[in-house]
Amino acid sequence: MGFDQYHEPPDELPRATRTFARLCASLTEEAEAIGWYEQRLAVESAPDAAAVMRDAQGEEFKHFRMDLEYLLRRTPAWREIARGILFQTGDIVEHAEEAEAEALEGGGSGPAGAYEDGSLGIGSLKGASR
Ligand SMILES: [Fe+2]
Repeated sequence: MGFDQYHEPPDELPRATRTFARLCASLTEEAEAIGWYEQRLAVESAPDAAAVMRDAQGEEFKHFRMDLEYLLRRTPAWREIARGILFQTGDIVEHAEEAEAEALEGGGSGPAGAYEDGSLGIGSLKGASR
């Protein structure tokens, strides 16, 4: 059993941070599984085997959504931005920029869950390989 989800000594991390990290690792694993099934389905010629894999891929996507929901419930600002991006039609990037701007502007002093510098911590996630 690996402990790769931790980049700091686990015994120094608060319990909630360890749980958050576990769910981040789980989210990554579910996304990988979804992609792996997509590739397998692209090359599988047996319809019955493909049906089994399609069902399994759907299960992985359900797990992905549950992991994401858990993480969003613990990061209110991220949840607010997700609300502006998910289930919308139109330009995804445009919605993301608008949702981020609205989340930052709402409430005057910033949304709940924002970092002390007023950011949502999103910039620190760009390029992160966690
Ligand atoms: Fe899964």
